[in-house]
Amino acid sequence: MLKGKRILLVVAGGIAAFKALELIRRLRERGAAVRCVLTEAGAKFVTPLSLQALSEDRVYGDMFSLTDESEMGHIQLSRDADLLVVVPATADLLARMAAGLANDLASTVLLATDKPVLVAPAMNVRMWTHAATVANVETLKRRGIHFVGPTEGAMACNEFGPGRMSEAAEIADAIERLVAPAARPLAGRRAVVTSGPTREAIDPVRYISNHSSGKQGHAIAAALAALGAEVTLVSGPVAIADPPGVKTVAVESADQMLAACQQAGRVDIAVCAAAVADWKVARPTGAKIKKKPGAPPPGLELTPNPDILATLSKPGAGRPALVVGFAAETEAVVANAIDKRQRKGCDWIVANDVSPATGTFGGDRNTVHLVSAAGVEDWPTLAKDEVARRLAGRIALHFAQPPKAEAAE
Ligand code: CTP
Repeated sequence: MLKGKRILLVVAGGIAAFKALELIRRLRERGAAVRCVLTEAGAKFVTPLSLQALSEDRVYGDMFSLTDESEMGHIQLSRDADLLVVVPATADLLARMAAGLANDLASTVLLATDKPVLVAPAMNVRMWTHAATVANVETLKRRGIHFVGPTEGAMACNEFGPGRMSEAAEIADAIERLVAPAARPLAGRRAVVTSGPTREAIDPVRYISNHSSGKQGHAIAAALAALGAEVTLVSGPVAIADPPGVKTVAVESADQMLAACQQAGRVDIAVCAAAVADWKVARPTGAKIKKKPGAPPPGLELTPNPDILATLSKPGAGRPALVVGFAAETEAVVANAIDKRQRKGCDWIVANDVSPATGTFGGDRNTVHLVSAAGVEDWPTLAKDEVARRLAGRIALHFAQPPKAEAAE
C-alpha cells in the first residue's frame, strides 16, 4: 500500500498519456497523494482538467509562472515527493534527461530532484531500438533511473514490437516496490550469480563464444539484491549495464569465471545462468595465427572447460545451501532438465526452450519450468526480469521454510 506516499507524476506527450489517468486512479486507491506536471506536448493528449479532477490537486505546467514560483518553486516541487514518475517517458524526454537539459518544467524538476525517478517508456518500436535511445536508456540506468517496461505488443502506430507502455497496474506495482519495499527476506544471505557468455581464446585476436546476452543472469542478480541478498555477479562480456546494488566481476573465459565464483567466498545461494562454452582451445597461441599461402586452415584442438555448476554443486562443507542451474534446451525441455539436475548435482534447474523460434536468446521474454526434487513447475511466458523476480521470491521462500518442510521438497 502507498498510504502517505507522495508521487510527482510527469505526464509527457505521447499517445500513451491517457494511461496516466488510470494510473492516478490506481495510486489514489492505494493511498498515495499524486501531483502532476504536464508538459506542453502532454497537454495535447490529456487535459489539465482531467489530471486535476483525478489527482484533486492543481496541475503544474509552466516553469515561468510567477504565481507557481511564489507559491511553490520548481525545486520544492521536485523534492516535495517521495518519487518522481514519468508517464509516458517519450524518446524526447528520455534524451533530454540523459543530456541534463532543463528547458521546461518537467525536465527541470527531473534534473533538480534528489528523489528516486521511475520512467515508463512509450514510443514507436524503431524509436525505442534506435542507437540514440538505447544509449540514452543505458546512461539513465547507469545513473540509477528506474525503468518499468516497455512491453511488446501492437501499438497505436500499427507496428508491433517493444515500445508499448506498461499498463497502469504494472506501473503502480513498480512504484510500490520503490517507495514501499517489502521486507528484505534474503538480508544476511550471500549469493553468487554467473551470467553472459564466456570467451575462449584461439589466439590474441580470435575467440569462441556464443550469443548469450546476460539479460536473465543480470536480472536474477538484481532481483536477489532487491530482496536483501549480498550478491556477486560474475559476468562474461555483455553489452548491458551492471545491475545496481550488486558487486559485478567481469571475466572472459570459463576458467576465469570459475575462479571468480570461488573467490566470492562462502555463499548461501549460487545461480549459474551463464552460457559457459563447453570447450576451450587446448593450446591458444601467444601470437596471431597467420594464413600461409597454399596451406590448409589450421585445425583447432578443443578440450573441455570446467563445469562451474557441477563444481559448485559438489557435496562438501563449503557447498552453497541452494545451487540453481539453467538448462537451455531445444527439445524435450523438461526431460532433459530433470536429467541435467541429477547429472550436475544441483538443487534446482530453471529449464527454458531456446529454439530460435522462441526468441529467448537475446530477447526480453522467457518461458521456463522450475525443476526441483519436488517436481516441475511450469511458469507462464514472462519478461526476463519478471522470471528473475519470481525465482528470487521462490529462493526467499525456500530459505524461509523450516528445515523439515525443505526435506519434504
Ligand atoms: N554450466 C556451467 N559450466 C559449464 C557448462 C554449463 O556452469 N562449463 C551451467 C550453465 O550455467 C547452466 C547449466 O550448466 O546453469 C546448463 O548448461 P547447458 O549448456 O544448458 O548444459 P550442458 O552442460 O552444456 O549440457 P548439454 O550440452 O547436454 O545441453
